[in-house]
Amino acid sequence: SHNIYITRHGQSEYNAAGKLGGNPPLTEAGQEYARRLAKFAEENICKDDRGETRKARLWTSSLQRTILTAEHIQHPFVDDGWQQMSTRVYRNLDEIFAGEYEGLTYAEIEKLHGDEASLRKMDKIGYRYPRGESYFDIIARLDPLVQELESYEEAVLVVSHQAVLRVLYSYLVGNDRELAPKQEIPLHTVVKLSYDAYHDGACTETRFYLGP
Ligand code: F6P
Repeated sequence: SHNIYITRHGQSEYNAAGKLGGNPPLTEAGQEYARRLAKFAEENICKDDRGETRKARLWTSSLQRTILTAEHIQHPFVDDGWQQMSTRVYRNLDEIFAGEYEGLTYAEIEKLHGDEASLRKMDKIGYRYPRGESYFDIIARLDPLVQELESYEEAVLVVSHQAVLRVLYSYLVGNDRELAPKQEIPLHTVVKLSYDAYHDGACTETRFYLGP
């Protein structure tokens, strides 16, 4: 079977403040998640069912909150003793770009640009932020990545962001993409998707809440 693990970055300074986008670092709670994720990866992702060490792949976005979330995971760049994981940084995994509204809260957008806020409510998947992106743009830039993801035999851990993982998850489990913008992808949770080659591409899902 082939396993894909997806997780959002640990809590960022902007998450704590309710702000969109940006390139903030992690809060204390987010840093704790990074440590727990490393332990989880070592014990679960880099071991097979018999406890044997196995190779896995690690993908992050180019934003520091995902890179910092993955920083304790042992891989060739931080520890010569381990060769299980190799990291790749993909800009295509970066969070939806809110353009002129980066760094604002939902309440501020509502107050300053009420018309835009209602346009987004009416059509969340199609709405494009001024000088920014829409969910459709995310779908388009994930396309080459999912092709690659599905070609691997090794497990892959993808550390990315809320909007991007809503799209990726919906694609991987075969959900209607119209549902993606409201899909629940909570912080500090690893979603494991297992594909059984004998079950026609169907996958089973397990969620691991690692706290805090
Ligand atoms: O709030 C965290 C965040 O990742 C923002 O950076 C991003 O704009 C938002 O989630 C995406 O979620 P939604 O599409 O529901 O606004």
